[in-house]
Amino acid sequence: MFFDLTEEHLMIRKAARDFANDVLKPGVIERDEHQKFPTEEIKQLGELGFMGMMVDPKYGGGGMDCVSYVLAMEEISKVDASCSVVMSVNNSLVCWGLEKFGTEEQKQKYLVPLAKGEIIGAFCLSEPEAGSDATSQRTTAIDKGDHYLLNGTKNWITNGSTASVYLVIAQTDVAKGHKGINAVIVEKGLPGFVVGPKENKLGIRGSDTHSLMFTDVKVPKENRIGEDGFGFKFAMQVLSGGRIGIASQALGIASGAYELALAYSKERKAFGKPINQHQAIQFKLADMATQIEAARLLCMKAAWMKDQHMNFDKESAMAKVFASKVAMDTTIEAVQVHGGYGFVKEYHVERLMRDAKITQIYEGTTEVQKIVISRALLA
Ligand code: CAA
Repeated sequence: MFFDLTEEHLMIRKAARDFANDVLKPGVIERDEHQKFPTEEIKQLGELGFMGMMVDPKYGGGGMDCVSYVLAMEEISKVDASCSVVMSVNNSLVCWGLEKFGTEEQKQKYLVPLAKGEIIGAFCLSEPEAGSDATSQRTTAIDKGDHYLLNGTKNWITNGSTASVYLVIAQTDVAKGHKGINAVIVEKGLPGFVVGPKENKLGIRGSDTHSLMFTDVKVPKENRIGEDGFGFKFAMQVLSGGRIGIASQALGIASGAYELALAYSKERKAFGKPINQHQAIQFKLADMATQIEAARLLCMKAAWMKDQHMNFDKESAMAKVFASKVAMDTTIEAVQVHGGYGFVKEYHVERLMRDAKITQIYEGTTEVQKIVISRALLA
């Protein structure tokens, strides 16, 4: 494993950094306050090639590696984690899932517009009673010959109302347990498919989170992903890659908060000198920078292993569990460095602190990551 970034990596990081500062930063406080989805910004991210970064160019993607994806996710998340979760779900759950496991017809019909950023996708696994315990799906996709009849409710779905294509995990045969689960592609607008009200969230408030209700929704058989019964393994593999995206989001939230704290510590004076001349602040900055560097290395290692086609399940879980803790710890300290200013919206760190929490919850809680890691250690 090499630590040097290539010229291409540096260019991608700069493009993401410039986009975050020039396009995302001006409206980020307002979007957070009014829970406004970044419609125009996501369109521009698509035009930059950031909505299907790792997809083969023959399917409309950017043909970039996973290391590039981590770099871009970090930069976008430093400024707007609501925008980066849309990017993460589209790239690593929806596009990657379709590219790796979809049929040629599914790729032409769905992956191409998703990778170009013309439409966005959602990944629908969580249910009122099946978040961490993903095998306990209550949503059913009953085989009716040429179609599945879909019934049930999905909760906390990112891109819930803004997506056009939904990858839905559902139980076809309860008796078979996880081997009776399928993943199906559901288009918005099918009769019986209703999007519930938007969730009013603590953080990532610009993103669009909804419940989805399915009542006798007819899904064509050709929309099943993989062989019959492959849905649970599909979800597990897709989530394993997704965790690199969320780990990178957590890394970006942490490094964004750190950069703000560092800059503020140079400007703010107390007891006759800049506060960064006080050891109490220096130690906080040193701790933050060290933790962030360690989180970055874990994200990069998982991404590099994915690029080498190695098994990265353990490493992506390690990256997520560690980076999300670093995001929480760092943002709390960044608010502390800012003192009273840290508690008001204009200084951005309070939003980053609120945004950090979700990285310990979605795409598998910290506790789930520890199950994945310990199973790999004990195998
Ligand atoms: N790759 C391939 N196969 C895998 C796998 C992987 N990464 N992980 C598990 N499997 C296979 C197992 O080998 C096993 O297959 P066999 O029976 O053939 O051997 C099968 O899947 C069942 O595995 P487990 O027995 O390990 O399953 P489990 O019920 O014990 O669950 C779990 C394990 C890790 C807790 C899993 O349920 C899990 O990851 N839960 C969390 C789900 C999650 O991340 N939810 C978040 C929702 S999505 C989201 O948040 C998106 C968003 O909007 C941002």
